[in-house]
Amino acid sequence: MCGIIGYIGDHDAYPFLIKGLKWLEYRGYDSAGMALFNGHLSIFRKMGKVADLESYMQNQEFGGKTGIGHTRWATHGEPSDNNAHPHGSMNGWFTIVHNGIIENYAELKEGLVNKGYSFRSETDTEVLVNLMEYFYNQGTEICAEDAVMLALSKVTGTYGIAVLCSQESDCIIAARKGSPLSIGIGKGQFLIASDATAMAGFINQVVHLNDGDLVVLKKDSFTLKSISNKPVSVKISNIDIHIGDIGKGSFDHFMLKEIHEQPRVMEDTLRGRLQPEKSDIMLGGLISVMPDLVKSERIIIVGCGTSWHAALIGEYLIEEFARIPVEVEYASEFRYRNPVIGKNDVVILISQSGETADTLAALRLARDKGALVIGICNVVGSTLARDTDAGIYTHAGIEIGVASTKAFTAQLTVLTLLALKLAWERKTIGSLQYTQHINELAGVPEKIRQILLQSEKIRTIAEKHKSVRNSIYLGRGNLFPVALEGALKMKEISYIHAEGYAAGEMKHGPIALVDEHLPVIVLAPRDENYEKMASSIQEVKARKGNLIAIISEGDNDIREWVNDFIEIPETLPALIPLLGIIPLQLLAYHTAVYRECNVDQPRNLAKSVTVE
Ligand code: AGP
Repeated sequence: MCGIIGYIGDHDAYPFLIKGLKWLEYRGYDSAGMALFNGHLSIFRKMGKVADLESYMQNQEFGGKTGIGHTRWATHGEPSDNNAHPHGSMNGWFTIVHNGIIENYAELKEGLVNKGYSFRSETDTEVLVNLMEYFYNQGTEICAEDAVMLALSKVTGTYGIAVLCSQESDCIIAARKGSPLSIGIGKGQFLIASDATAMAGFINQVVHLNDGDLVVLKKDSFTLKSISNKPVSVKISNIDIHIGDIGKGSFDHFMLKEIHEQPRVMEDTLRGRLQPEKSDIMLGGLISVMPDLVKSERIIIVGCGTSWHAALIGEYLIEEFARIPVEVEYASEFRYRNPVIGKNDVVILISQSGETADTLAALRLARDKGALVIGICNVVGSTLARDTDAGIYTHAGIEIGVASTKAFTAQLTVLTLLALKLAWERKTIGSLQYTQHINELAGVPEKIRQILLQSEKIRTIAEKHKSVRNSIYLGRGNLFPVALEGALKMKEISYIHAEGYAAGEMKHGPIALVDEHLPVIVLAPRDENYEKMASSIQEVKARKGNLIAIISEGDNDIREWVNDFIEIPETLPALIPLLGIIPLQLLAYHTAVYRECNVDQPRNLAKSVTVE
């Protein structure tokens, strides 16, 4: 949930650190800081955004070609200057930036206090850096790297760290366990960061660290080993991040840009996989495991947040077409309930970032129990992508907005391809229906473009409801998860208490909430649930609910019953979620803008939840 960056090379470190922190800010943004070595170690820390740190630095003396930086999402210790990273050890010999949670920090802290150590912050990180100093002082033969290894050997929990030692200023020591870290290789310089995005433009190759790895970076070389000092093989990958992908372009926010990127993203996701000319689907990442998938007796789809909503839609798709029983689980529940998993089970893990702690824990649990584990992930080279047996990248490109949009529709696209392919291989779908869905899927990006043209109309609807405190989203069938997702978008960026419900559930309690002050957003396109949704609308209308309906183009009935409506093009029922979510993304976006919320960096949230 925090962002880490480090630089060592021929140039001043500051520009690399401050720019990297700006790219990492989506991972956490309650405080930021950096440490620079310029003959001596200087630490600069500020509560607030990276821009606040940048302003603060304008009035400071600093320099140096080696440095580390951090942008924080608070776990231990409230956001403050004092709790901001980097943290220095008591005598200033070690300085650290850390992403993760040291679970046994209290016990370690007590031991250090008994050895005469004092602490300036409330963080678990300060315990770790003092532990390093403590070991460093245990003998002249102990170097900084040894001290880091010894300290990490005492730690339970998760970490992605970068460390400077004032006595050994020619290197940065970094290590990871449970929090992502990658080494960037550039000309005459090395960087280390929580994700490669922060190093884009400075490097052309990358090495992704695995759990248990430790690296010593120098200005012209790096040494990779395990934290128990064993050799580790180095896998160098070329980096394919295009700088242009990272800016906001002409949009006011990354989220709005990413909402509007969805037609192109879907085309990218489909490219090479959807083959209308052959009336077929090719999922190259699953070729090696397709026979096991085809004969699997149960599929469990696991994820968090928006990825869990995509999993729910995946359940409808796979059961509808491939007739394989599917269960959907929150990763945070699945990992702790000792689930019954057999070797004929397939566990699909969905994650945009590929670094969500709960989802990675679920992956390890499923793998340990003998299941085939498949990843659906957006970040190339992420832990999920590397640790699953096989997988499919969503190819949504870098998603900066904390509220996931294009990654969600890319996940749905992949799940649709998978469900159809599985059905074809299992002969549970006829060639006509298969071809029909392939051809219709190819046309969905253009239909999304048509919906995006209604952004201005949706903005006017948002203006009417910008001051409400609650709202309800209703859907049936594969649009019930869309209602959940629409409500999550509204919750997380406008802070309105929005709830998604299965429309059929309203009469079992939630309808008591309905009055003239309550916006009720209903997904009522022409599908098999149309008549039932029409009844749900009438039930709400009879109680003066303020109805906003997502309807099929040309539906001249429901539009007469509701306060506002947004039309979406007709498509096959299985593909409607890909269209139904678009108006809800825009409704949440415009509402958040009216409420002057921080759309791209909502309060209390971070883009990648790499801690429990
Ligand atoms: C989505 O808008 C949220 N930011 C959040 O629910 C997110 O989907 C969840 O944390 C899972 O993230 P992941 O897909 O990267 O695993």
